[in-house]
Amino acid sequence: MEVTNRYIVTKHHIEGTPQESDFELKTGALSLSVEPGKKDVIVKNLYLSIDPYQLNRMKRKSSSQETKDFAGAITPSQAIDAYGVGRVVASGNPDFKKDDLVAGLLSWGEYSTIKEGGLLNKVDNMGFPISYHAGILAFSGLTAYAGFFNVCKPKKGEKVFVSAASGSVGNLVGQYAKLFGCYVVGCAGSQKKVDLLKEKLGFDEAFNYKEETDLKSTLKRYFPDGIDIYFDNVGAKMLDAAIENMNTFGRVAVCGVIAEYTDKGKRAAPNMVDVVYKRITIQGFLAADHMKDYKDFISNTTEYIQSGKLQVLEDISDGVESIPSGFVGLFRGDNIGKRMVKVGED
Ligand SMILES: NC(=O)c1ccc[n+]([C@@H]2O[C@H](COP(=O)([O-])OP(=O)(O)OC[C@H]3O[C@@H](n4cnc5c(N)ncnc54)[C@H](OP(=O)(O)O)[C@@H]3O)[C@@H](O)[C@H]2O)c1
Repeated sequence: MEVTNRYIVTKHHIEGTPQESDFELKTGALSLSVEPGKKDVIVKNLYLSIDPYQLNRMKRKSSSQETKDFAGAITPSQAIDAYGVGRVVASGNPDFKKDDLVAGLLSWGEYSTIKEGGLLNKVDNMGFPISYHAGILAFSGLTAYAGFFNVCKPKKGEKVFVSAASGSVGNLVGQYAKLFGCYVVGCAGSQKKVDLLKEKLGFDEAFNYKEETDLKSTLKRYFPDGIDIYFDNVGAKMLDAAIENMNTFGRVAVCGVIAEYTDKGKRAAPNMVDVVYKRITIQGFLAADHMKDYKDFISNTTEYIQSGKLQVLEDISDGVESIPSGFVGLFRGDNIGKRMVKVGED
């Protein structure tokens, strides 16, 4: 049987803020059977993750492209691989059979073909909505969990600052930190997001960074006794302001620097004398380096969700054609929680 597969590509390399016009929808015929002797797995995509790091892959050149296979350069007009969850429709790989629910590196389209050796795992649904396996129970959740517990090395009662706090990773960092017993302040780009952080997610304080003219004194106001942990999702001026307000032996987990992805002119210039004399640790990390903690992460996170201690924030649009607007919107702050696209019915 043959189907028409609709998928999204970039038209050219993207250097600044992405626009919807940088993308196009393509169609191609796809046979839903695997050639004899091949170990391909053909998957009908259900939910696809929309992530800021993809922008660095779309540039002509970025140091991120040399680091990990999944962060490699995207060639214009070629299919774009992305994490997601789907159903197997055909398999030449003995580890997978038709109708298995799977998660892994799919692609921004209606169907994906995963070659032998590609990232693909069977999913035990555990009674959760399927979308959770592309978001909170996948890399977004692991990033928050491993970044906070392994990189920030929190102690109860410490003071934690999280940027992009209503986003996919940020909202979970704040919630894990509260559950652990820290004092947590988040920043986000609108009053609606600030209200949500305080009223629904239990952050101690939150502020709209777009309304602040001097971030250094803003942080001083929220942390009169200093910051012990800064979970950085944005880089740029926010990182400079956080460093100035860090306590001695403070830890900064550099998860991402989204403000710098669209404009390298905004690159952070933290005061390194502060870093030296306050003995601050600044550590970048990638969730993929923390797979050894995956089981712990899943068991704690599912328990928190089931007991109602952890709120799940999802921001899901419909249809493959909504991928470009969903992606571009990340850089405008359109999303609240994990941005995904539902591309197929189960
Ligand atoms: N290290 C890892 O393994 C790993 C894994 C996943 C994600 N990340 C990184 O973690 C960060 C968050 O990713 P996510 O998937 O959770 O995305 P997200 O936070 O759900 O979405 C991005 C958010 O960033 C904020 N933002 C956009 N442009 C900004 C700017 N110029 N300045 C300040 N804030 C801006 C927006 O919220 P506002 O309304 O608050 O502006 C937007 O909603 C990104 O830097 C990403 O690259 C790293």
